[in-house]
Amino acid sequence: MADPLALIADRARAAMAVVDPDTADHDPVVRPSQHADVQVNAALAMAKRLGRPPRDVAADLVAALDIDDLCHPPEVAGPGFINLTVRDDVLAALLTDLEHPMRGVRPTDDPHTVVVDYSAPNVAKEMHVGHLRSTIIGDALARSLAFIGHDVVRQNHLGDWGTPFGMLIEQLIDSGVDPATATTAGTADTTAGLIADLNAFYRSARATFDDDPNFAERSRNRVVALQAGDPDSLRLWQLLVDTSKEYFSDAYRRLEVSLTEHDYAGESTYNDVLDDVVAELEAKGLLVVDDGALCAFPPGFTGRDDEPMPLIVRKADGGYGYAATDLAALRHRVRELGATELLYVVGAPQHDHLEMVFAVAGQAGWLDGGIDAEHVSFGSVLGEDGKMFRTRAGDTVRLAELVDEAVSRAAGLLDAKSTGLTADDAADVASAIGLGAVKYADLSSDRVKDYVFAWDRMLALTGNTAPYLQYAHARMCSILAKARPEDRQAATAQAVVIGEAAEHDLAMALLGFDAAVHACTHRRAPHRLCTYLYELATTYTAFYEACPVLRPDDPAVRRSRLALCALTATVLATGLDLLGIRAPERV
Ligand code: ARG
Repeated sequence: MADPLALIADRARAAMAVVDPDTADHDPVVRPSQHADVQVNAALAMAKRLGRPPRDVAADLVAALDIDDLCHPPEVAGPGFINLTVRDDVLAALLTDLEHPMRGVRPTDDPHTVVVDYSAPNVAKEMHVGHLRSTIIGDALARSLAFIGHDVVRQNHLGDWGTPFGMLIEQLIDSGVDPATATTAGTADTTAGLIADLNAFYRSARATFDDDPNFAERSRNRVVALQAGDPDSLRLWQLLVDTSKEYFSDAYRRLEVSLTEHDYAGESTYNDVLDDVVAELEAKGLLVVDDGALCAFPPGFTGRDDEPMPLIVRKADGGYGYAATDLAALRHRVRELGATELLYVVGAPQHDHLEMVFAVAGQAGWLDGGIDAEHVSFGSVLGEDGKMFRTRAGDTVRLAELVDEAVSRAAGLLDAKSTGLTADDAADVASAIGLGAVKYADLSSDRVKDYVFAWDRMLALTGNTAPYLQYAHARMCSILAKARPEDRQAATAQAVVIGEAAEHDLAMALLGFDAAVHACTHRRAPHRLCTYLYELATTYTAFYEACPVLRPDDPAVRRSRLALCALTATVLATGLDLLGIRAPERV
């Protein structure tokens, strides 16, 4: 274990058990301190419980604290805080853990099969910024959870079924696609051309549906035919789905997101089991007929007037909807995929829906044995005017255009700083920086809050942004490149000798990576990892200003500092990678 704070917490817990053996509450209340590396503040709560002066309890704790091998002698301050400073030789020794591929991060002691449901755009519709948030946050969580040893199963719950497909198929036919031959490669190309602008395709289908009663009638009949398994309808539907999937997969590639073709498990995947799911829920007595619809009323969910809220599992017309599909997906994830933890990275407006699905699943026994289903909610993306993020014309922002703009703005940034990169490398770096900026802006604020999409802020080279971290990382790499080869060779963690306060602080910061990653995974809070990386980079800057790296005459000092520099670069790059962001060596 590399984290000195965790080591200290263990020792403090042991001391607490000696001083107050009668209690099970052994939270040592370890906090950062301005006067030392950490404060152990447990004495205050213990004093209250024991009815003794806190400073006396603190003194007893210090007497019981077996910590000489880690820290300088503890000091009691204020009302009973215990200040602890980690010994420099201990820090240096702990740093060797960072050379392990896990970079000092402890694997989870409770590995799960975690299903992460994320992205989930809708067929024949442009992915909107809500899906972008889900995609970015979900990807960061999937990567981080896998890193600490969970078995992560990505599930892209594509919206590929439902009533809109009636009008979309009719629109396809009206555009000249022949249902009988709709699977040939030629048709696929035509279809791709027709729905190249997904929003426009969807909107024109919608407009025709609203204006033309004949089209509307055909659309409704088409839905019925589709649900009945009519081959022509299914073929046209499949064409729409395949074309959209290709479009989305391309977006994932461009976004450098780890979702692939294999992760699609769209709503339609569950069509065949919906009857069975409903039968099971009925057999368990969980469904009642309400206004002709089959509904669940999970306890604790009430609407206005305190009326129990229904989760409509089968509509009055016999059709299944979003809720039935989600129930089937959940059961599948538990039974077939073996999930013991289920994360749904979905916007805040779907909170009630998901909580009701989880509640019904719980009643059905699908979550028995401590299986955990959790809505990983997030707020909206706002424009700089504080309103929903839209184009100037008031349309939803197209993902492809967003990515293009991010990359071209980043290229402008590179130009301005004009480096000696080849054109290919520069293009690659521009995409790392542009995508990094967009992703990091999303990830670095608490996900439950709305966040304001502001190009200038996310691309700023100072402050808590991806470009700042990427430039800091590249500067570290360039120092390493400039070092004498024999120094570089010798600059391993074993070479670190800590003398200066700034070196001490940097080592402490480096060893905090473990806690930051676990805060990110445990609390589903990528912003905790972002804050950590930003603080690491600023701590490094203070170190770099106080401690010349290449200049000292003593090779031992150069190598020690170079090693700190290399470790910082590695931790930064690893942390960014967990967030789905690249850290190029040169920018
Ligand atoms: N397709 C849905 C939408 O665009 C999101 C699906 C979220 N996942 C889920 N299992 N319901 O709103």
